[in-house]
Amino acid sequence: MSTTFTIDTSTSRATPMPAPMKRLTVPAVRGRKVDGVTAEPLVMLTAYTVRMAQLLDPHCDMLLVGDSLGQVIYGLPSTIPVSLEMMCAHGAAVVRGSYHSLVIVDMPFGSYEASPEQAFISASRILKETGAAAVKLEGGEAMAETVAFLSARGIPVMAHVGLTPQAVNMLGGYGARGRGAAEEAKILADARAVADAGCFALVIEGVVEPIAIAVTKAVACPTIGIGASAECDGQVLVAEDMLGLFERTPRFVKRFGDMAAAISEAAGAYATDVRARSFPTQAQTYQRKT
Ligand code: KIV
Repeated sequence: MSTTFTIDTSTSRATPMPAPMKRLTVPAVRGRKVDGVTAEPLVMLTAYTVRMAQLLDPHCDMLLVGDSLGQVIYGLPSTIPVSLEMMCAHGAAVVRGSYHSLVIVDMPFGSYEASPEQAFISASRILKETGAAAVKLEGGEAMAETVAFLSARGIPVMAHVGLTPQAVNMLGGYGARGRGAAEEAKILADARAVADAGCFALVIEGVVEPIAIAVTKAVACPTIGIGASAECDGQVLVAEDMLGLFERTPRFVKRFGDMAAAISEAAGAYATDVRARSFPTQAQTYQRKT
């Protein structure tokens, strides 16, 4: 559901100011899938900073403050070291920079797996400190009780099955999941378990396509694919991947821009001007008033 708002960069406000200023809600997202059909696919991108949120918000239904910020923003080797403090700081920035999209914040590794009670303490902190409306957590059958516990206590949960990056040490890497019959059955069982437990939407990451299609048909809530299938009820990508910030493009990513080249070109032009003393010119300097 795109809007026609633009962002006034001097005030950081959408113009014209939508009235009443209303974000997409969890029930509205959940309600986009009716009797197994989502007429208009849901658009989700990751955002970690206020300026990216401002730019992406008008085009998206949902902004995900993913724990992928560990690699993308902090240069960490995986999402494992990401902390609750990082998620809260970036979640609050994305909420400040957006007006229309539903904002969902990832629960970082170690903040929810021990018990539903631990998950509630972490998730409620995320909602209080960020203003986001929902959290995302990874896992299937093992997390079903937690999904039900949070949902029953006012915390909407987006679940995440298939390739779950926080489990990289168990999985042994980031390869696609579901290549054998046992793994396929497990992913389906995981998806059903968290859907039955009440998640409002379900990310399916890095699975062979027929599994993504089967899961989408099997669960009542919308599925959001990444490395999954166009038949999912929506799609998500890491914004920096989609914008072409990195040289390496994973198979499941389509580059819709070439941000790396644009930044490199601009930085090179700046360096040339500085070295030639052709920047700043009179236009960028302050002169005495005559
Ligand atoms: O952390 C993240 O960015 C994610 C998406 C890739 C789904 O979980």
